[in-house]
Amino acid sequence: MDIIRVKDYVEMSERACEIMRNQIKQFDSSVLGLATGSTPEGLYHQLIGEYKKGNMSFANVTTFNLDEYVGLATDDPNSYRYYMNEKLFSHIDLPDEQTYLPNGVADDLEKECRDYEALIKGAGYIDLQVLGLGLNGHIGFNEPGTPVDSRTHVVDLDESTREANARFFNSPDDVPKKALTMGIGSIMESKRIVLLVSGEKKADAVKQLVRGEITEEFPASILQQHDNATLIADEEALSKL
Ligand code: GLP
Repeated sequence: MDIIRVKDYVEMSERACEIMRNQIKQFDSSVLGLATGSTPEGLYHQLIGEYKKGNMSFANVTTFNLDEYVGLATDDPNSYRYYMNEKLFSHIDLPDEQTYLPNGVADDLEKECRDYEALIKGAGYIDLQVLGLGLNGHIGFNEPGTPVDSRTHVVDLDESTREANARFFNSPDDVPKKALTMGIGSIMESKRIVLLVSGEKKADAVKQLVRGEITEEFPASILQQHDNATLIADEEALSKL
């Protein structure tokens, strides 16, 4: 895994934007894998800026998000669909029908997972997957212990993950207990992976990712085995290496 060391959050976002812009410039019908959380917000802000300056178009791009909470409808401000619309999709020329997230209110969640996998396969798999890093090493919502060959599936969220994400909700009890997530196997099939990490609170996780053993107990460690994965991390995130 390559490591790009940057000064701070803004530079991390700029470098990620540059990679994404080059990807789309080279191949305008790229399939992008997108993440939510605080980390990629700066990247999305940069992409919107590039689009508004006329430097890039998303007209032929297809996107697949990593995950979605179970039980939150698309118009719920805490759903990841809502987040993506607000932070990126509604500001660029990417047609709605080319954006995919798992449906967290599907009647049959298992079928939804299978269908999502089929959609990714049908699109020719993901060219460039953006990832954030959970404090416990989760990627998407693949919590510690998730098998490396897992496909899109329903997960029970760890208490630590629910606590970490409680800041977005009115009350910690409102954080859903389940989510749908692409599996580790689905993520590893992406042709290129860019993992974004910023801030001192992720420093232990980054240390474990870079120096620790490859284990299902720390899902992001599997990325060490991907042949085109890049970690873009700022000085604070790298401070314990
Ligand atoms: C969340 C998301 C992940 C995200 C991670 C880190 O639970 N499901 O996709 O990468 O946790 O979030 P943040 O960027 O807010 O630290």
